[in-house]
Amino acid sequence: MNFLSNRLGFGADYNPEQWSPEVWRDDIRLMREAGVTIVTLGIFSWATVEQEPGRYDFGWLDEVMDLLAAAGIDVSLATGTASPPSWLSRLHPETLPVNHDGVRLSPGSRQHYCPSSPVYREAAVGLAVQMAKRYGTHPALKLWHVGNEYGCHIQECYCDVSADDFRAWLRDRYGDLDGLNAAWSTTFWSQRVTDWADVLPPRTAPTLRNPAQDLDFRRFSSDALLACYRAERAVLQELTPGVPITTNIMGMWEPVADYASWAADFDIVALDIYPEPKDPTAHIDAAFFHDQMRSLGGGRPYMMMETATSAISYRPPNRPKRTGLNRLWSHQAVARGADAVMYFQWRASAGGAEKFHSAVVSHGGADNRIFREAAALGAELSSLSDVAGGRVPADVAIVHDYANWWALELDARPGELKIPERVRAHYAPLWHANVTVDVVPPEADLSAYKLVVVPNLYLCTDAAADGLRRYVEGGGHLLMSFFSGIADECDRIRLGGYPGAFRELLGLRVEEFWPLSDGERAGLSSGGGADLWADHIVPEGAEVLAAYTGGPLPGLPAVTRHAFGAGTATYLGTRPDEHSMRDLVADTLRLAGVAPVVAGLPAGVEAVRRGRHLFLLNHNDHAVHAAGTDLAPRDVAVLRLDRDPASGAAAAPSLQSGAVPPVGEGA
Ligand code: GLA
Ligand code: GLA
Repeated sequence: MNFLSNRLGFGADYNPEQWSPEVWRDDIRLMREAGVTIVTLGIFSWATVEQEPGRYDFGWLDEVMDLLAAAGIDVSLATGTASPPSWLSRLHPETLPVNHDGVRLSPGSRQHYCPSSPVYREAAVGLAVQMAKRYGTHPALKLWHVGNEYGCHIQECYCDVSADDFRAWLRDRYGDLDGLNAAWSTTFWSQRVTDWADVLPPRTAPTLRNPAQDLDFRRFSSDALLACYRAERAVLQELTPGVPITTNIMGMWEPVADYASWAADFDIVALDIYPEPKDPTAHIDAAFFHDQMRSLGGGRPYMMMETATSAISYRPPNRPKRTGLNRLWSHQAVARGADAVMYFQWRASAGGAEKFHSAVVSHGGADNRIFREAAALGAELSSLSDVAGGRVPADVAIVHDYANWWALELDARPGELKIPERVRAHYAPLWHANVTVDVVPPEADLSAYKLVVVPNLYLCTDAAADGLRRYVEGGGHLLMSFFSGIADECDRIRLGGYPGAFRELLGLRVEEFWPLSDGERAGLSSGGGADLWADHIVPEGAEVLAAYTGGPLPGLPAVTRHAFGAGTATYLGTRPDEHSMRDLVADTLRLAGVAPVVAGLPAGVEAVRRGRHLFLLNHNDHAVHAAGTDLAPRDVAVLRLDRDPASGAAAAPSLQSGAVPPVGEGA
């Protein structure tokens, strides 16, 4: 379904309840000037729309919807349920969330609700029903935006209502207490439970908690948030069939919820992403999240629902984006599969917690570079309508899993491994090699990929282990890092020699883990060095690509490769330094026959193919010449691949901007 009508959407969160009707008229005028095609409306309007339980005031929203329709601007209409009104917290304090220390949080911010609360869910669904009845046939309505960033602040609630809900979830998963006791390994530390009433959320306890309980609580909490979304989605589907439904999820390094299990409930995936303007490598992380969103939708176009035009208010110092950076990062989203570019928010708020967050219209109005850059981008995107709907081909997949993320970062692991660093360490070399990557769950169908990269898959289901094995057997190439295949989905060790799930596939066993101390390094016989971790590998058929030349295991294998079936499995028993990792990835890409999108690009230039277009993105602060094209600092070129889709050289320029007067140069 492409409700964006075969064009690239451009717009912002629109919060007109903060402004007077005269300002709305000015907003519409400026939206047209900026080329806005879509706004996401009313996200925090619950307290304005329903000032007392069941008494609704839609007058102002009717007027705004009509103004937008008259201006030809599409509306992604929020159900408005992200921040409950004060009366709900007063009349039903039990809807307020409780943290793991047992402290009930107060209203006064946002997202102050227990995801399991039937009272909250009923009130939220009640509002969604009213919104659907009122606006279901309004010509401006193109998309439902349910809630907002589920789990952004409250991912879990530890109250008694949640405890009951958790028990019901566990009964469903394990059937009876014997099943639960086995799954949670409760014979350890006398944790056996004999009555469901004794089963609790992992509240603050004397020392290390039961890891399987922690893990299941994360799974349950993700499902509880999903149930909130689904409850609203169900009534919207019933009352307004045909109107697509989504909620915005977050591209950031926090395992907020298991988005892979949410994806089937999105009619279009919507991403909120705030790359840090001060971070010189922010665009690499951003590329990963864009790839993840495209992959969550099975390759279909997604929306970049929120990003910042310039400064982000909650990360002081709030540095603005330098000239061209908003344009560059917006095009990066489009290149990787987004069919819409939208901002938080349209007009900077005069009051409230986020008044210093940049917007399209600033406190000083529209006579400034932020607005001019945004309007120029709006015009550019409208000239690129033939990009909309295009697919982004990828020969490589990287495996990313939320249960593994939760499990890997629990307490008392042999070494301190963090998924953000681990995924980055594998993704960045692929980005530098200009290879496009899909981000897939471990149980995905891998048959379409030439190479599958598996960073540290500690927790692994039997289905995932089988799938990876069959993939390699059938001729696939695998690159896997240490501490993979160690535990099952209940965080129980796969016995009989590490790495239980992959020993045969990798052709080795690991006798012991030797995590390295901070600053400790081990040399590699292939050149370069490694740190963080050293597996004591005993080959059982694998060939040794590199051995340690120092550290705790000198002379022993560090990197191996195993021919298995018709494919190969390359294994990293350590963390190679950046340079060595790039070499290893390059070697594996060659082995798998993966070619870059464009070969021989200057460093810092990203090339992505989308449909019949080639995007060239210069992330450098200097000019470059790439694929026959001159690119100014932070410049973008979009080339139409008329003849040879594999080569930028044969392409005709579709868009390339000249330089704009720089602001923030040298920053
Ligand atoms: C203490 C406890 C043991 C065990 C060890 C190792 O000695 O008595 O039960 O927990 O620490 O952590
Ligand atoms: C999130 C929220 C927005 C806003 C922005 C900026 O993305 O969805 O409401 O708070 O962050 O901080």
